Amino acid sequence: MRILSGIQPSGALHLGNYFGMMRPAIELQEKGEAYYFIADYHSMTSLFDPVERRKNTLDVALDFLACGLDPKRAVFFKQSDVPEVTELTWLLSTVTPMGLLERAHSYKDKTAKGIAASHGLFAYPVLMAADILIYDSNVVPVGQDQKQHVEMTRDIAIKFNEQYGETFVIPEPQIRDSVAKVPGIDGEKMSKSYGNTIEIFGDEKALRKKVMAIKMDSRPPAEPKPDAEQNLAIQILKLVAPPEVAKDFEDRLRLGGLGYGDLKKALFEHYWNYFAEARKKRAELLANLDYVHGVLRDGAAKARAKAREVLDRARKASGLE
Ligand code: ADP
Ligand code: TRP
Repeated sequence: MRILSGIQPSGALHLGNYFGMMRPAIELQEKGEAYYFIADYHSMTSLFDPVERRKNTLDVALDFLACGLDPKRAVFFKQSDVPEVTELTWLLSTVTPMGLLERAHSYKDKTAKGIAASHGLFAYPVLMAADILIYDSNVVPVGQDQKQHVEMTRDIAIKFNEQYGETFVIPEPQIRDSVAKVPGIDGEKMSKSYGNTIEIFGDEKALRKKVMAIKMDSRPPAEPKPDAEQNLAIQILKLVAPPEVAKDFEDRLRLGGLGYGDLKKALFEHYWNYFAEARKKRAELLANLDYVHGVLRDGAAKARAKAREVLDRARKASGLE
C-alpha cells in the first residue's frame, strides 16, 4: 500500500493540521510505503513572499519531523524538488473538464476571501491530482476540507485511463470522522486563514493567551450545562488529554460547578504536556539543520525516481513517446 499526503507551507501548523492530517499520516507510516511532502508549488497560489515561503517550508519540515515523521519509514520531500509533477499536471489538465474545476469549493472559498483568482488557483486541483497519481498512491490521509480534491483526482485519473488505457492507480481519501474538522478558538473550522488557530509549537505565553480566548457563553459556573459535549474547550481537551480526564471535566461541566476559566487552564496544561516531547525534538532539529536538509534531499531523490517511472508510463500511453 502506498500512502501519500501533502501540506502547504503557508503558515505555522496548528492542532487542526496535527489531528486531521499529520497524526494519521504519522501512524500510517508503519502500515505501508509513505510519501509525505511540503506543497510549496501549491503555496504559490496564495502566498507571494519568497522569504516567507522559504521560512515556512523549513518550519513545516521541522514541525513534521518533531511530531514523529520518521524519515527511515516515510519518504519526506519538498514538492518542487520533483518538477516531473508539473509535466504530469499538463497531461492531466488536457483531460480535466472545466466544469469539474468550476465546482471546486476551495476555489470558490478562496476567491471569496479575496485571494486573486489566478489560473494557478483555478488549476490547483490538477496539480494536486498529479501529486497523488505520480506516486501510484492508494491512500490519501487528509482532513474533510480536502475530500473533494481527492474525489476530483479520482475523476481525472479515470478520464485519463479511459482516454489512453490503464495508466493510473485510483486513490482513496482517508478521513477520520472524529478529527475531520477540528474547531478553532471561535468555533469555526480551525484554519490558518481564519486567524482562529492554536499552533502546535510557539511561545508559551502567546499560546496560553489563545487557549484562554476560546469562545464560551455567559452562563455562570454553577449552572448545569446539559450541552457540555459541545463546549469548544471540551472538544479540544478530548484530543490532548487521556479519555478519562476529558470525561471527568465534561461530567463536571454538565453537572455545574466548573468555571470556564478553570476548564481552559486545565486544557492549556494538557495541550502543553501533549507536545512536550515534540517540542524537545524540534529544538534538537533546529540545532541540526544539515540533518533536516539532508532528509529532504534524500527524500526528493527517492520520490523523483518513482515519479519518473509513472510520468514515463503516462507519456507512453498518451503517445508522447
Ligand atoms: P489551513 O486550513 O489551516 O490552511 P491546510 O489547508 O494547509 O490548513 O491543511 C493541511 C491539512 O490539514 C489538510 O489535510 C487539511 O484537511 C488538514 N486540516 C486543516 N485544518 C483542519 C481542521 N480544522 N480539522 C481537521 N483537519 C484539518
Ligand atoms: N491541498 C492540500 C492542502 O491544502 C495540500 C496538498 C497538495 C495535498 N497536494 C496534495 C494533500 C496531495 C494531499 C495529497 O491541505
